[in-house]
Order: sequence, then structure tokens, then C-alpha cells
Amino acid sequence: MSSPKEVLRQNLKMIHGYPMVYAFTINWERIERFQSRPDDIVISTYPKSGTTWISEIVDMILNNGDIEKCKRDVITARVAMLEMSAPGLRLSGVEELEQMRPPRLVKTHLPIDLLPKSFWENNCKMIYMARNAKDVMVSYYHFDLMNNLHPYPGPWEEYLKKFMTGDVAYGSWFNHVKTWWKKKEEHPILFLFYEDMKKNPKGEIQKVSSFLGKSLSDEIVDKIIYHTSFEVMKDNPLVNYTHLPTAVMDHSKSPFMRKGITGDWKNYFTVEENEKFEAFYKKEMSDTTLQFCTEI
Ligand code: PPS
Repeated sequence: MSSPKEVLRQNLKMIHGYPMVYAFTINWERIERFQSRPDDIVISTYPKSGTTWISEIVDMILNNGDIEKCKRDVITARVAMLEMSAPGLRLSGVEELEQMRPPRLVKTHLPIDLLPKSFWENNCKMIYMARNAKDVMVSYYHFDLMNNLHPYPGPWEEYLKKFMTGDVAYGSWFNHVKTWWKKKEEHPILFLFYEDMKKNPKGEIQKVSSFLGKSLSDEIVDKIIYHTSFEVMKDNPLVNYTHLPTAVMDHSKSPFMRKGITGDWKNYFTVEENEKFEAFYKKEMSDTTLQFCTEI
């Protein structure tokens, strides 16, 4: 793996038209060549949309709510991030996946175009979680402050422009959510919303269980709701990302488990910024049936 100096706070690098985290682009062929298994379960999201939350939920469902089993390792080893590669990590995402026993849980933020072909060919089940753009942007801004693999976010006003035009890691939020939404017409994709999970965790967890072919008792579902609540996950060192080297994620700049709420955007967008964003949003989302809620 590369040295910290080579990859930290570097500019994004374009991969097939998408801006990508520089460290992940090294030896990109490893991603393109990746061989899936038909029983792989892919957890896909645009960054900051509740990936860690749904990952812990899925692992708990597959382990019938057994907390001890979910304590077997840190989240990045139980649900490995396909494209991850960074200095100081014990293994890259691909190496983690190669060691994992089936069914493997694969985390990715890749847009449809960049996901290795093998996942489509093997008809792997996929769970996509989406979150409203404004809360994603606030969360992403704070993440870019603390995650040294990403470029500095710069001032908020400029970040707003970068986010809208897709000049952030993984590109445009609009393209990401719209193309994954469309893809579910031809592929087994369970499309979930962060806001629904906040409003009705029981119903959403039951949806995920049945998609994965599991039937869980009410008691187990309640246990999963508790164990995956923001308050519990924030204090769980196996999922709150404090296990990564500080050189990669510096929680003193902003904690990974920051607020875990819907509507925090109101504390950041000025009235004028919100109007500008809404007008842009309307245009970008005019060709989709996909709809989001921004407050609950
Ligand atoms: S990443 O880095 O893209 O994988 O991040 P991701 O896990 O997708 O998103 C991080 C945001 O999700 C919030 N989060 C939660 N919200 C509610 N409940 C639970 N259990 C939970 N776990 C993580 C986390 O706090 C980040 O959102 P913000 O708005 O920054 O707090």
C-alpha cells in the first residue's frame, strides 16, 4: 500500500469520468477485475447516506440479532468496502473480501458505471440506501474535514457549489441516486431511505429481513433497533470508526458519528443558499420519479 504522504489530502482523480478518492485509484484494475460470488450481498450508497447504519443492521439480521457475533470484528472487516485502500490499514477492501467467509457483505459507494461487472453477471442482491441531498451535503462537508483521504472541503459556500456540480468524491449525488433508482427495474435492488429508517425502523428492518430471506421475531427486531440506534452506535468502538488510524480519520476535527438526524441542513444553509439549491435540485430531479423527504 502507498505511503501516507503520497495519498493524504490529494486532489480527486478522475476514473472513467468520475472524481475518485486518490488513494483508491492506485491499481484500479483490482476493482475492475473483482470477482463476485452469487451469494455476495452488496450495500451501496452515495457517501454519508447511512452506510454504516444499514451495514450494522444487515450484519445483525444475518446473525439473528446475536450481538456477541456482531462483536467478532470491526465493521470494516465484517462489511468490507470494495474500493478501500489506505496507508496504515491492515488490508485493502479487496483483500478483506477475499478473506471473508460467505455470504460476504460488500460495502461500496461506486456509481453504477464503476461497479465491477461481475456483480451484475452474478445477479447479486443489493441494498441501496439513499438520504436527502441537503443532509448528505452537511455530513459530507464535516467528513471531508476529518477524513484525510479526501481533499480539504474549503469554505462552506464553495463546498455548496462543488457538491451541486459533483466535484466531490464519487461525483454527483443526483446522478448516483437517480441511476441506482432506475437500475432497480432490472436488478434485485432493495432501495431504502435514511429518513424512513429514522421514522419507522421496525418496518424497514422487516423489509430488509424479508429481502434477505430471513424471518425474525419481534423481540429480535427490537434488539436490532436498540443496538443500531445512533446513541448506541456512537459509543460502539467497533462501528464508530475510531479504530482507523488518526492519520486517516481525525475525530477531533469532527466525529464520524456526528449527529445522526434529519434536517440538520437547516443549521447550515442560508435562506439564499437554500433557494439556489432548491432551484438546481428541481431541474436535476425533473427526469425521475424519485422523491426525498428533508424533515421528519
Ligand atoms: S460513509 O463514510 O459514507 O460510509 O458514512 P455513512 O455511514 O454513510 O454516513 C454517516 C452518517 O450516518 C450517520 N449515522 C447514523 N444515523 C442514524 N442512526 C445511526 N445508527 C447512524 N449511524 C451513523 C452518521 O452520524 C453520519 O451522519 P451525520 O449527519 O454526519 O451525523
